[in-house]
Amino acid sequence: MLKNIKHSFFGLILLAGVASADLGEFHWDWSKIDTESISFHKDFLLGTAVSMYQVAGGESSNWATCNTAKDQKGKPRISHGQVTGKACDFWNHLDEDIQKLVDMKVKAFRFSIEWADIEPQEGQYDVAALARYHDLCDRLANVGIKPVVTLHHFVHPTWFEDKGAFEKEENITYFVTYAREMVKEFGDKVSMWATFNEPGVYVFQGYVRGVWPPFKSIGLPVIKYYMPELTFNFMYIKHAGYVLKNMLQAHVQAYQAIKKLPNGNKHTVGIVHSITQFDPFNRGDMVEETVCYYTNNMFHDAITQFFSTGSFRFGMPVGLVSYENSQATNSLDYFGINYYSHVTISTKGQVYRDHEIRTDMPYGIHAEGLYRSIADVSDRIAAPQGIPIYITENGIADGKDDRRELFIKRYMYALKKAVNDGYDVRGYFYWSLLDNFEWSEGYDMQFGLYEVDFKTQERKLRKGAQAYLDIIERSYGLPA
Ligand code: BGC
Repeated sequence: MLKNIKHSFFGLILLAGVASADLGEFHWDWSKIDTESISFHKDFLLGTAVSMYQVAGGESSNWATCNTAKDQKGKPRISHGQVTGKACDFWNHLDEDIQKLVDMKVKAFRFSIEWADIEPQEGQYDVAALARYHDLCDRLANVGIKPVVTLHHFVHPTWFEDKGAFEKEENITYFVTYAREMVKEFGDKVSMWATFNEPGVYVFQGYVRGVWPPFKSIGLPVIKYYMPELTFNFMYIKHAGYVLKNMLQAHVQAYQAIKKLPNGNKHTVGIVHSITQFDPFNRGDMVEETVCYYTNNMFHDAITQFFSTGSFRFGMPVGLVSYENSQATNSLDYFGINYYSHVTISTKGQVYRDHEIRTDMPYGIHAEGLYRSIADVSDRIAAPQGIPIYITENGIADGKDDRRELFIKRYMYALKKAVNDGYDVRGYFYWSLLDNFEWSEGYDMQFGLYEVDFKTQERKLRKGAQAYLDIIERSYGLPA
């Protein structure tokens, strides 16, 4: 594949030593593209995804503390002072929500097991919580829907947070034990696992921007880019790199612990990585290229390079964190990509190209980026290691439901094109089944195929969701 050289001499110098297979920003002419007849092979896994904290809430975790947390100016951490509560009250709507999966005819359902529910006190597993997850897996088995389980989706128990969570290398063992215990507990019902959901995002939000727990981003306003409140303190960046390194190390150790279990090899274990390309608005602009280079490097290339070479290099001019683990290149049975969009950076901060249709989140519709992310991961990791890619999340926040149909058609076109072009992508999970708790945005963002009225818990299929149902139907056909 083409190597991305970031289009400038300065970029060339900066990029020395860092392998990147990103194709660079490009745009298709959508007026010439047919997005109406997309379908996939019947073995392609079309599904939908949730995380348990986002649909069911929870009492005792790093995230539950956000309900009352305030920032330095006394502003609530969650938009408009909202609280998580029971979210979609998922556990009391199991029948209904599983029926929705059946009605949609999806083949797989991605959800997280919440460590905080399972082990609310250190070393004490909650029997009722385990029973709830067994019930969910049994019900999915009854209707022939494959469960895909994430073991850490931003949330962990308060006791683990109090110990310093992934800030301390010695805490990795707690995660590895929990991961192994979950595979032992649910191993006859679940065979596809993700250790972490988006470690890069967890670190960026919690340790760089400091808008998610543990809210660590106190620093000198050295470089402001992309979002006005963003501040950088180089020592802090180093700390963020160390947390990320510990999470990746935890992945490798959990992978090995699972594989050592009896039947460990029958489990498919991967990691879920979020890709947001940071693209310079003006190619060749030294400042823009530099900001994008370092941001892409820290939150994308550092992670993919770790899995492709075993070397972790969290590259800032100062505060570099490096770590070697030759086992990393043998620690994935699949690679999960969460893809939403790219971000275009100018010297004025984040900007949008004229043609870009915005979503309710601070990014636009950019299906070409999904293709780019697949090509990049494939060239660097999936193809050389002979492992498949799954799109573990992709969706749109669209409260008016006036862009969802377009979003689905364009991104599914990009996905299908990637499959046609020979990239080994084996599944896709639409984010999300239901409107749910969108972290610091509270309930302001509506990602659901089903709209949820949080007062009555009534669920209603969105009109825009039909585009996805049509693709499922074209792919799998009508039921016999
Ligand atoms: C996360 C989800 C989140 C979604 C939409 C992903 O980064 O994994 O938890 O709801 O993006 O913002």
